[in-house]
Amino acid sequence: MKIGFFDSGVGGLSVMHLALRRLPDEQFIFYADEEHVPYGEKTIEQITGYVDDAIRFMIEKEAKVIVIACNTATSAAIHEIRKKYSIPIIGMEPAVKKSLTICENQRVLVAATPVTIKGEKLRYLIQNTEQGHLVDLVAIPELVSFAEQGEFESEQLINLLRDRLRAFKLEEYSSIVLGCTHFNYFKDTFRQIIPNHIKFVDGNEGTVNQLINELSHINGFEKNQQTIEYYFSGKKVTDSKELSRINECLKRLDQMIKII
Ligand code: DGL
Repeated sequence: MKIGFFDSGVGGLSVMHLALRRLPDEQFIFYADEEHVPYGEKTIEQITGYVDDAIRFMIEKEAKVIVIACNTATSAAIHEIRKKYSIPIIGMEPAVKKSLTICENQRVLVAATPVTIKGEKLRYLIQNTEQGHLVDLVAIPELVSFAEQGEFESEQLINLLRDRLRAFKLEEYSSIVLGCTHFNYFKDTFRQIIPNHIKFVDGNEGTVNQLINELSHINGFEKNQQTIEYYFSGKKVTDSKELSRINECLKRLDQMIKII
């Protein structure tokens, strides 16, 4: 039986990248919905349909547990999806609580897609946090397409980030929450614009811890050689160009994980 990771695109690799280190004896399936990425400005109904297709597909491929490594898909679809399937499905949401814990009364800036930012799930999360008044939100959906194109450093990218962050007095913030799994690829570029004291916070470690808990719950640990199968919108990835694109992403994540 396998562990499934799902995202609209290559963003979910940032979460699986950590799971691969922590779970060396497991078999993984990574499903990216490359035909429909980006999700960040689509409707809830569209996203729910895409996620449903992906989850069904991974269950047919013998997934024992699935991580929706996408804040946008979680926000839009996890309630419906959990009602439909009986295997454990782990979602992701912006790591607001973690960020507030380390922020010492300074502000926290959550960067995510418009669906996540406008979603009830995030509003509810912030409302139910004592220091919710310290949280500000910024939508940067364009970063998803930059990541999909493998454009991680460019003047256009820097200009976009400068433009989106212009409205915020960055020196007042303690941390930036990477509330979209695609945003993990841009830590070095963000760093060129934001002050050094601002920490990057993401939900990857919490999600992988949750995955490990779930596996111990269902007695689901295996002792296999680690394997990974990649699927793009239901088709197995065999093309060497696509496989090397995935490898380039994983290599970049080896660097990004060191930036905190
Ligand atoms: N990686 C996804 C997330 O965490 C979003 C991407 C998209 O807009 O497709 O929200």
